[in-house]
Amino acid sequence: MDTIRIGMAGLGTVGCGVLNLFAKNGALLQERCERAITVTAVCARSRTKDRGVDLSGYKWFDDPEKLARSEAIDIFVELIGGDEGPAKAAVEAALSAGKHVVTANKALLAKHGVALARLAEANGVALNFEAAAAGAIPIVKTMRESAAGNHVTRVYGILNGTCNYILTRMKDDGHSFDTVLADAQKAGYAEDDPTFDIEGYDTAHKLAVLTSLAFGTEISFENIYREGISTISSEDIEAADELGYKIKLLGVALRTETGIEQRVHPAMVPSENAIAQVDGVLNCIAMKCDFAGDIMLVGPGAGAGPTASSVVSDIADIARGNILPTLAHPAASLEPNIRARMRAHEGGYYIRLSVYDRPGAFAAIAQRMAAEKISLQSIVQKKGHGKTPAVTTDQAPEKPARVVIITHETTEDAIRKALEAIEADGHVDSKPQMIRIERL
Ligand code: HSE
Repeated sequence: MDTIRIGMAGLGTVGCGVLNLFAKNGALLQERCERAITVTAVCARSRTKDRGVDLSGYKWFDDPEKLARSEAIDIFVELIGGDEGPAKAAVEAALSAGKHVVTANKALLAKHGVALARLAEANGVALNFEAAAAGAIPIVKTMRESAAGNHVTRVYGILNGTCNYILTRMKDDGHSFDTVLADAQKAGYAEDDPTFDIEGYDTAHKLAVLTSLAFGTEISFENIYREGISTISSEDIEAADELGYKIKLLGVALRTETGIEQRVHPAMVPSENAIAQVDGVLNCIAMKCDFAGDIMLVGPGAGAGPTASSVVSDIADIARGNILPTLAHPAASLEPNIRARMRAHEGGYYIRLSVYDRPGAFAAIAQRMAAEKISLQSIVQKKGHGKTPAVTTDQAPEKPARVVIITHETTEDAIRKALEAIEADGHVDSKPQMIRIERL
């Protein structure tokens, strides 16, 4: 069979990882695919930058779009990143020119995945993106192939290694969010501007794509409810531990009666559940299938080797002629993504309040919960957490107490109304903390 020729745009950590993989395991890959596969051309912003990789054997392109259209390649590998600009233009150019595309670009897919899937299918080529969702974890392959005969009712997981590392260190070392984040930045686990990871955008990009694969719906990043981990305090981590939970940043998608619920937020997961054991920079994706049952995949979600491994698995599929619909369903048959109201979300809740220790405060809080028909599973008060108020009256200042409430199943609407009322009553010295308990 003819040699498969690859043109790769983007020579950062992942791009260099792919070149290293070919240098070390290229012969193995060719033997397994029963044909020659070679990177023939590369493209990046700087030709002279020292990447510790010998580029002399590759044809150099300054323009990713030219590389994407080049007659000298069969597969265009896009590792530039970004949801617009050169990455999008080059991927569109490659697909329009009838080239297969492999990308690790979750932001691009979250925004333009459906249009790109249509373009790929119209041109009879593959658009593969195993590396875009959770690094080395073969979730796209699992959704497209292993689960092909199943209805998937729920997909969820830990999709961001940076957040998982921070939450794990907060729990294990007892440090604050800010201290662990600063350490993570020094160690290179977190970016200088960590917003994208810690506020849940990266998780939401991955979830947007997983939802489409799981349910056969159009990708909708806009329909995702999103909260990050920057509000999680040491007190929450400690209280969760005492109650038998761990806090994880989850991405969750499920079908409900009113539509598709897609949400990214910190969640309490029972400590004995397998997902609670996924610590550090590891990622994990779980799915509920009607015939296969529960599937859970765990592995590295980032880094040169794991991400390159997924890029190369996509290349291997193309080399073997295993060309599948981009989003597991033909793009023309994807259903609209109808958003379920977040206020209709049902589940248990962890509430942490900093309450002035005065007669009637506890009763007022319980009354507000009862007014919204929220049933309490437990309520625990601990003295001496919170600061003594700076402003004093002629009476002794009331030192706030930490009150932790666990509710039975209720709705997001009821909880939000109860918390608004509790805040307005004036018995608390700060905004109530609310963390959803995930039903697994
Ligand atoms: N920044 C991501 C993470 C990896 O921390 O998991 C790339 O999506």
